[in-house]
Amino acid sequence: MQLTDKVVLVTGGSRGLGKALCLGLAAEGAKVAVNYFHNEAKGIDLVAEADAVVAEIADRYGTEALAIGGDMGSEADILAMFELIQQKLGPLDVLVNNAAALASGPITKYTEAEWNYVFQVNVTGTFIACREFVRRLLEQDRKGRIVNIASQAAFLGSTSGHLPYDSSKGAVVSMTRAIAREVAGKGINVNAVAPGMIRTEMVAGRLAADEDKYLARIPLHRIATVEEISDIVTFLSSDRASYMTGTTLDATGGMMMR
Ligand SMILES: NC(=O)c1ccc[n+]([C@@H]2O[C@H](COP(=O)([O-])OP(=O)(O)OC[C@H]3O[C@@H](n4cnc5c(N)ncnc54)[C@H](OP(=O)(O)O)[C@@H]3O)[C@@H](O)[C@H]2O)c1
Repeated sequence: MQLTDKVVLVTGGSRGLGKALCLGLAAEGAKVAVNYFHNEAKGIDLVAEADAVVAEIADRYGTEALAIGGDMGSEADILAMFELIQQKLGPLDVLVNNAAALASGPITKYTEAEWNYVFQVNVTGTFIACREFVRRLLEQDRKGRIVNIASQAAFLGSTSGHLPYDSSKGAVVSMTRAIAREVAGKGINVNAVAPGMIRTEMVAGRLAADEDKYLARIPLHRIATVEEISDIVTFLSSDRASYMTGTTLDATGGMMMR
């Protein structure tokens, strides 16, 4: 995939899909900045998780990686992350916006604060990261790639009540297209992937409660593995996808068939 020595940032890279993205990109030779935040509510030590991803990358692929803390809901954190990556790994070639916040409940119960938090991380965080990346690429006269992780929920919504999340993913799809069109002449390709259900912690509770209900909606009749989505992101991160920009790829096991 021609990613040897390319510098890549994966947000929310310490676990779930993000971890698989870090490993998939490193397998193709990329140097990976593994962003982590924290998950105090669940008592998970994400620093240790991110360090473990860095160690696994070194062991399996022998490429450089860097665990880098930062809240994708904070502009200051995002700017500091970009600076640190530049210093430690060199200029960034690929930005993968994977981190996302989820909220659950019926429309009648959401507070403005809950709505704003999801948008702060999923939409504003993605925008700030894209803006900083594009600024740096233009200043350095370099080409680059952005891959945003959207969701089928942007197009289909959810039956289990995730309105702010679904809406934020719709904004990510629009943002992908808008930035792609604006920077297409500058050698910067911007694409997104819209996964269906992937077997990660984000959906573990729903799958444990009613996996058959979800399987019945999926023509391929199975839940995606993180590796299946990682392969698509790795492709979009590489020069093999050089003629693609502004697209959102359907990775839903056939739920959308657009
Ligand atoms: N799983 C699915 O079925 C599915 C389907 C479609 C799309 N997706 C998308 O795939 C991506 C990865 O999801 P996943 O399934 O791997 O979910 P996950 O296991 O819940 O992981 C989400 C990741 O995002 C991080 N994150 C959340 N808020 C953050 C913040 N403010 N700053 C930095 N990182 C933050 C999380 O860290 P913390 O835990 O510390 O917050 C975690 O590393 C997301 O964009 C999601 O919307 C997932």
